[in-house]
Amino acid sequence: MKTTIKTITPESLAEAKNLIFGGEVVAMPTETVYGLGGNAFDDCAVQRIFAVKGRPADNPLIAHVHTGYDLSKIIDYDPPYAKKLREAFLPGPLTLVYPSTNKVSGYVSCGLDTLAVRVPSHTGAQAFLRAVDIPIVAPSANLSKHVSPTSAEHVYEDFNGKIPLILDGGVCEGGIESTVCDVTGEIPVVLRPGLITAEMIAAVVGDCGEYAPNLTVGEKVKSPGVLYKHYSPRCKTLLFENVTDGLTAIRKTNGERVAVLCEDEIAEVFANAGVTVLNLGKTEREMAARLYELLREAEKLCDVLITIEPKKKDGVMVGVLNRLRKACTSVDIKH
Ligand code: TXA
Ligand code: MG
Repeated sequence: MKTTIKTITPESLAEAKNLIFGGEVVAMPTETVYGLGGNAFDDCAVQRIFAVKGRPADNPLIAHVHTGYDLSKIIDYDPPYAKKLREAFLPGPLTLVYPSTNKVSGYVSCGLDTLAVRVPSHTGAQAFLRAVDIPIVAPSANLSKHVSPTSAEHVYEDFNGKIPLILDGGVCEGGIESTVCDVTGEIPVVLRPGLITAEMIAAVVGDCGEYAPNLTVGEKVKSPGVLYKHYSPRCKTLLFENVTDGLTAIRKTNGERVAVLCEDEIAEVFANAGVTVLNLGKTEREMAARLYELLREAEKLCDVLITIEPKKKDGVMVGVLNRLRKACTSVDIKH
């Protein structure tokens, strides 16, 4: 199959719409990362997404809709506090998990009685979603376990020959995936941290939990994605808490090509040590926006990537550190 990259025009949107209603998979931009989209009502299209991506069959997908889409078509219950969250943050990088059964293909939520719904703010994504006027399920458009894509070229790297069309909406501004927030209980609970933080959610509705699965008691996990190795570049990755440990690790390398990924504040120390420096930047938004681009660059130019945890740990950095730690995990938590 030939894969083409097209900018978003009325013609490319018409082509994308035809492909979607023909059961195909189309990559689309969003403000966070690119997604691999398919018709949420079409069992075959949803299964195709899992197959093309190599995604584990028990990791559910997010349904993406345009701003005018009638949510009652796809969810069973809409708690009053969810409305407040939508008004405060949508369209934008916040996915809400609602009670929902039998509204879209059963393959979307992998047997859970919930549906994750996202209204992206990216104008290209909105144009595409309006053109099709159905929910589009879209995981991040990377091969399973690989680094998420923040440009059309990244999608091409992973899916050339496997999907017909990539809608090119430029480089994603956000850089890390949406915050996933469960709204099925009395208070919202963040299942995956992102640019909309638990504090921001609590500021709107008074309270917000943060989910940490306790795998020892054998409970059923709320968000299966938290168990899998993710976001990993194809080079060896090591994560350190401070500069000293990073420098020691460099000294221990033996003729391998080494690069260091770190925040701007300490970049000079490593540049002076003679290694390639991948600079995450200064602010939390910069670090979120550059993370995946730099992880993809790392796998091209080094054998060993030494990562130093940025100092700031709260706010948006909860999401950045979550991705960084998973990228540097050498084993799958779930096999
Ligand atoms: O920013 C994003 O969310 C991107 C763009 C493309 O929109 N999408 C994305 O999708 O990151 P994906 O499939 O890579 O991650 C979806 C996450 C997974 O951790 C999954 O387990 C969780 O959302 N999820 C999906 N449906 C769920 C549900 N019904 N209940 C709990 N977690 C759910
Ligand atoms: Mg993903």
